[in-house]
Amino acid sequence: MVVLAVAVFVTLSACAVCCPGNKNSTKLKIQSMENQPMALQLAAVVKEMESLRCEQTTLKQQQNALTQMHITSHQKSAQKEVGTNILTYGSNDEEDNLPFFEEDSRKQRDPCFHYTILDQVWRATNTTTKIKKCDRRSKWKGWYRLFYNGKSLQMPERCIPVNKCGTHSPLWLAGPHPKRREGIVTRRVCGHWKKNCCAFRSPPIQVKKCSGNYYVYKFTEPSTCDLAYCADINTLVCGRCSRNQSCVSRDKINWRCKGKKRMSSRKIHFFASYPGQLNGKVNKIKYSKVLVNVGRAFDRRTGVFSAPVKGVYQFFFSTQTANTGLKTDLWLVVNNYWVAVSRTHLSRPSTVGNLSTYMTFLRKGAKVYVTHNCGRSWANAASMTITFGGSLLVQMK
Ligand SMILES: *[C@@H]1O[C@H](CO)[C@@H](O)[C@H](O)[C@H]1NC(C)=O
Ligand SMILES: *[C@@H]1O[C@H](CO)[C@@H](O)[C@H](O)[C@H]1NC(C)=O
Ligand SMILES: *[C@@H]1O[C@H](CO)[C@@H](O)[C@H](O)[C@H]1NC(C)=O
Repeated sequence: MVVLAVAVFVTLSACAVCCPGNKNSTKLKIQSMENQPMALQLAAVVKEMESLRCEQTTLKQQQNALTQMHITSHQKSAQKEVGTNILTYGSNDEEDNLPFFEEDSRKQRDPCFHYTILDQVWRATNTTTKIKKCDRRSKWKGWYRLFYNGKSLQMPERCIPVNKCGTHSPLWLAGPHPKRREGIVTRRVCGHWKKNCCAFRSPPIQVKKCSGNYYVYKFTEPSTCDLAYCADINTLVCGRCSRNQSCVSRDKINWRCKGKKRMSSRKIHFFASYPGQLNGKVNKIKYSKVLVNVGRAFDRRTGVFSAPVKGVYQFFFSTQTANTGLKTDLWLVVNNYWVAVSRTHLSRPSTVGNLSTYMTFLRKGAKVYVTHNCGRSWANAASMTITFGGSLLVQMK
């Protein structure tokens, strides 16, 4: 009973992976298509059928996997050979009885639906057993899928230390697992021995990626004893890492998820100019011509930049004067403190510009703007002489 309850739960979650949409949403779609042409309605029905069929297949696979788990736990001590704990899919395929369509003969032969489960804990890359297994002693036929206590995993694509995977020389896949669109591929298999990762060149095997994100392998008798096909435990552990984390290992045997270093994930950049002249005191310069505002932290209506996250920021601001004898001061104001000045002061007739930069640590919500304290700043719509800009350099926690 317990096993069955678990089966239903696992199936539901697995379905989300492989099946395109659930029944209810498809139904709704069909209803909403009542006034559509026949061909469209038909297409919707076909889609619904496919989704049902997919759900059914997933259900069956999960149930079989769990049944297998059940058998395995009861027969653990009795198992010696591969042949004793196998279970073949598709032998009593109820899927074939679907009244709606002819049998899809391609699917019939697809190894993704017809494989033998290999759920042997000793095959895991992190196990060391005293008894050494040799896959040459087993009769291999057809396709296989690797499990570890009922959880799907794949062969390692890297050299595994000797005496792991319950054998002397662990067999690993000397090539990448295929993508779905590649179909069935042939891959070399290597056995590690005496510091030579490919000391044993076992006969190549075939591999296929299946929808539902698992692989099936067409194993054959390895070249010698004791060689055995490995199941990579890292696929289990690393599959649980979130996108935030990377899968790390010191010995390439034991793996764990580790949070990635926090990078400056938010991107904040702005650059704006004031397209006219400024005279005397202007509390906040309203830089209305905004050229860059990535992250939307600069408000063109007020001329105020608000730090959206905590971190290190860099600002720059500039002015230009053409009036002899007049001192012009622009101040950068951070949280009401005047922190930096950009000054122009001409003693003889000419024009002069001044650009100042400032770098600071800001808390979230800090306000930054530029004040025109005195003098006269010159600009026109195209001159870009009165400007204000900045960037978030490093985001902090
Ligand atoms: C191998 O890894 C699995 C999954 O992380 C773990 O449950 C198991 O205890 C490990 N076995 C050994 C012998 O370390
Ligand atoms: C990444 O980790 C942070 C905390 O370290 C968390 O707030 C955030 O939601 C995570 N993002 C994802 C996509 O997991
Ligand atoms: C620019 O401003 C700085 C700081 O106020 C000042 O020392 C410098 O003389 C100014 N440069 C010019 C060309 O006015």
